Parts: sequence; structure tokens; C-alpha cells
Amino acid sequence: MICDPDIVIRVENLKTRFGDHIIHQDLNLEVHRGEILGVVGGSGSGKSVLMNTILGLIAPSHGTIEIFQKKIGSRFDRTEINHRIGVMFQNGALFSSLSVQENVEAPLIEHTRLREPWLEAVALMKIGLVGLDAEVGRQMPAELSGGMRKRVSVARALALDPELLFLDEPTSGLDPIAAAEFDQLIRTLSDTLGLTVVMVTHDLDSLYSISDRVAVVADQKIVEVSPIAELERSDHPWIRAFLGGRAERAKERNR
Ligand SMILES: Nc1ncnc2c1ncn2[C@@H]1O[C@H](COP(=O)(O)OP(=O)(O)O)[C@@H](O)[C@H]1O
Ligand SMILES: [Mg+2]
Repeated sequence: MICDPDIVIRVENLKTRFGDHIIHQDLNLEVHRGEILGVVGGSGSGKSVLMNTILGLIAPSHGTIEIFQKKIGSRFDRTEINHRIGVMFQNGALFSSLSVQENVEAPLIEHTRLREPWLEAVALMKIGLVGLDAEVGRQMPAELSGGMRKRVSVARALALDPELLFLDEPTSGLDPIAAAEFDQLIRTLSDTLGLTVVMVTHDLDSLYSISDRVAVVADQKIVEVSPIAELERSDHPWIRAFLGGRAERAKERNR
């Protein structure tokens, strides 16, 4: 196997199952350093399971997963690797009884020896990084708009300075304007911090505006990985249905 430092995640021949229910079979995927990779697929196709398997929360029944050029085995100590990965889970909620600042401090308290005044300094820096005012740190999650709560979730995911960020349907529930602003935040963070981003989404606007490539989960595997403009030329029935009119127009142009 070639050790390429620009491949941040390499999944080979992955099989996952729950009892008799096979979710993935012969699934292969490479994620490149610094890219924003969109992950799309039908509801229940296994996008969240794939993310959770890469994160080590679900054990694969076959195949290999490499992250940062390290092969992840079942008895592998993930602590060091998990510190380099930030995650925003699907419907990932903030701790409702903690202030915004305390939410962002939580991973720092759990995983570092940082204490005051540095905890506050780091938390406020992350809150600023996601485009929120320092005063928001004192507010409770319930006082914030949906878009602000998503930003706080990103600030918390960035607390430990990860190199790799997973987002599972981050713009779901946001209005189109808040979703577009969120997308631009992710693009800016990726560009300025060199973050690699894996973003599960159904949001075509997000895919067109910020993804470098899009991986399609269908038929228990990744059936295509390419820039969204190339996906428009795909003959795969799910991709054609997903992209709908845009794909039809692309075909007309190319005839
Ligand atoms: N812990 C689990 N136990 C059993 N089945 C599961 C579990 N997690 C997910 N599944 C099943 O795996 C399939 C893929 O789920 P998921 O990855 O959540 O889909 P999505 O692509 O919508 O994110 C679904 O059929 C779901 O019911
Ligand atoms: Mg999901």
C-alpha cells in the first residue's frame, strides 16, 4: 500500500452489517488533504454509519481503514487520532444546561490539562473563529438562532484544533440564507486552517457552492467520487434522480 501523506482517510473493501442487514459491501473511499468532500446518498443508505465507522464507533466486519496513514485496528488506541478529528454529529445537540462558552470548553476540560484563564481564552478564540461575538459565550443555547447554534457546534468541534472535520447534515433545519452563511464559514475554515472536511449533506446548494468533490453512497458502496459538475454526467439512476433537472440540462449541453 502506498503511503501518501495527501490521503487523510483511506477506506478499502469495507463491509459493515447489523446482523443480517448488510449496510456496506466492498466500499472504497479516499479523502484528500485540505478538500471539502460532500457525501450524499438516499435516506438509510449508510452515510452516518460510514462516518461512525471511520470514527471507530462502529466496528467493520471486513476491510481496512487508514486515517493519517495509520491503519486502525479493533484494538488500536484511538485517543491520539480522535484528538485530531472534530465531529458535528447528525442532530448533534449542545449541552442545554451549559452556556455557549462552557459548551466549547467541555472537550478542553475532558481531553487537555488546560485550566483558567486559558480555557476561557481558547473558547473565546474558537467562538470568534466561527463568526460569533465574545458576548455570545455567556448566552445559553436556547437563546440562540438555529444558525448560531450550528456555529457553536462547529466551535466545539474545533476546540482541540483538529485537522479533519466531520459534519453530518449540518445545514438541515436552517433557512437557505443561514445555510449559505454556514457553508461559507466551512469554506473559510477549510481554506484558512487547511482543514479537511467530510460533510454528509442533502443540500444541493452546499454541494455546488463549497464541495471540491462529492462521494455518492448507493448500492452499499461509493458508486462515484467526483466534482459535482462531473456527477451531472453520471448515468447512475440515483444520481440522476438526485440532481434532477440539472443533470438533464448538462446532458443536453453535451449532446
Ligand atoms: N446501530 C444500528 N443498529 C442497527 N441498524 C442500524 C444502526 N445504525 C444504523 N442502522 C441501519 O443502517 C442503515 C443506514 O443508516 P444510516 O447510516 O443512519 O443512514 P443515512 O444514510 O440516512 O445516514 C439504516 O437502514 C439503519 O436503520
Ligand atoms: Mg444519517
